Amino acid sequence: MIGVTILGSTGSVGANTLDVLARHPQRFRVIALTANTEVDLMVKQCLEHHPEFAVMADSIAAERLHDKLGATDPDIKVLSGTEGMQKVAALEQTDYVMAAIVGSAGLLPTLAAVRTGKRVLLANKESLVMAGKLFMDDVRKYNAALLPIDSEHNAVFQCMPRNFESGLHNVGVSRILLTSSGGPFRDTPLDQLHNVTPEQACAHPNWVMGRKISVDSATMMNKGLEVVEACWLFNADMNQVQVVVHPQSVIHSMVEYIDGSLLAQLASPDMRIPIAHALAWPERMESGVVPLNLFDVSRLDFEKPDQGRFPCLRLAYEAVALGGTAATILNAANEIAVQAFLDRRLRFVDIPAVIEMTLTDMSIGQASTLKQILDADQHARETASRNVMVMGRRIIQ
Ligand SMILES: NC(=O)c1ccc[n+]([C@@H]2O[C@H](COP(=O)([O-])OP(=O)(O)OC[C@H]3O[C@@H](n4cnc5c(N)ncnc54)[C@H](OP(=O)(O)O)[C@@H]3O)[C@@H](O)[C@H]2O)c1
Repeated sequence: MIGVTILGSTGSVGANTLDVLARHPQRFRVIALTANTEVDLMVKQCLEHHPEFAVMADSIAAERLHDKLGATDPDIKVLSGTEGMQKVAALEQTDYVMAAIVGSAGLLPTLAAVRTGKRVLLANKESLVMAGKLFMDDVRKYNAALLPIDSEHNAVFQCMPRNFESGLHNVGVSRILLTSSGGPFRDTPLDQLHNVTPEQACAHPNWVMGRKISVDSATMMNKGLEVVEACWLFNADMNQVQVVVHPQSVIHSMVEYIDGSLLAQLASPDMRIPIAHALAWPERMESGVVPLNLFDVSRLDFEKPDQGRFPCLRLAYEAVALGGTAATILNAANEIAVQAFLDRRLRFVDIPAVIEMTLTDMSIGQASTLKQILDADQHARETASRNVMVMGRRIIQ
């Protein structure tokens, strides 16, 4: 039996992972589940999947979980905080870790899994964006197996030759083409973007996801973060990663070879496919997803991304070019700006402005140590919060 810990089990990716695991009870057992504050859903998941450990990042939520489980399933050990999440990511009986916490809170628990040589199923792209070099160095140093869960990177992984780590040119690959639906505002007149609400931004046309990634998809920062992620995962230069808008979300990404071949992975937009792929790799197993019916699809469209409409994509490429802590700052500023938009303290159109101001305000440092990365993250959050207030004042005046 393969022991699996799910970091962020109450989220969209976490719940999809539990769905896939429940289809293969002879092969996997759930070792630990983690969440932040969603106690009721955690109780339900614990009663269904009987983990050894349940962790709440929030200590008050952990107390509530402890009380509730005490009455129903007292054998489950309840832990709290980042230490609790790091502990369950590193347990000896944990073979695979699904890293599905949203945002920078995922970095330390995911690194704990990497540093104990686990198979890490990486959904939490923010951890790779903020700490790319250190993260990948640790993957190699601790012999961890890193499998991408982002549907695009999972598609690229499926289309890549095995030994791509040696460099794309060495294995005959010329480019990675990351597809993007273009989000809910691909065709919205630019003057209407000022009035966009969080509800509209979270209504993705093809995917059901958590609120933060939904807003990232609407600004196309999600694709920007994915460009950074692809560079690290596939040892690619940023010029080898191109974004292609593909509104149907049927092709999840492509790999172009030097002989002109283009390999693509096609599937229904359902996260259980990349999750099942990474759990079973190098084999295949049933995911619960109905195969794509090409007669229903009927057409596939492709467009160049509109850089004017989506400045976040440009900012992400600029951060890769700057190197050092630039991507750490980009990620932190984006998290602050997106939360401010979700809290209705910032307009949708001001999200890229806050990120750009923060990148301009801060000096780019080295990102070699965890301390350097965490310091840059913290400083960027403070700077971005000030910039949110500046932009917020502009709305009120
Ligand atoms: N959703 C998708 O289809 C999809 C696709 C590709 C990649 N991803 C990536 O996967 C990650 C998760 O996305 P999601 O859509 O599943 O997010 P989500 O639905 O918002 O779930 C986030 C999970 O993280 C937990 N969490 C939030 N803040 C935390 C904190 N400070 N400390 C510890 N845990 C915390 C949440 O717990 P509570 O429920 O208690 O708040 C929840 O379990 C993101 O990095 C996203 O970019 C998602």
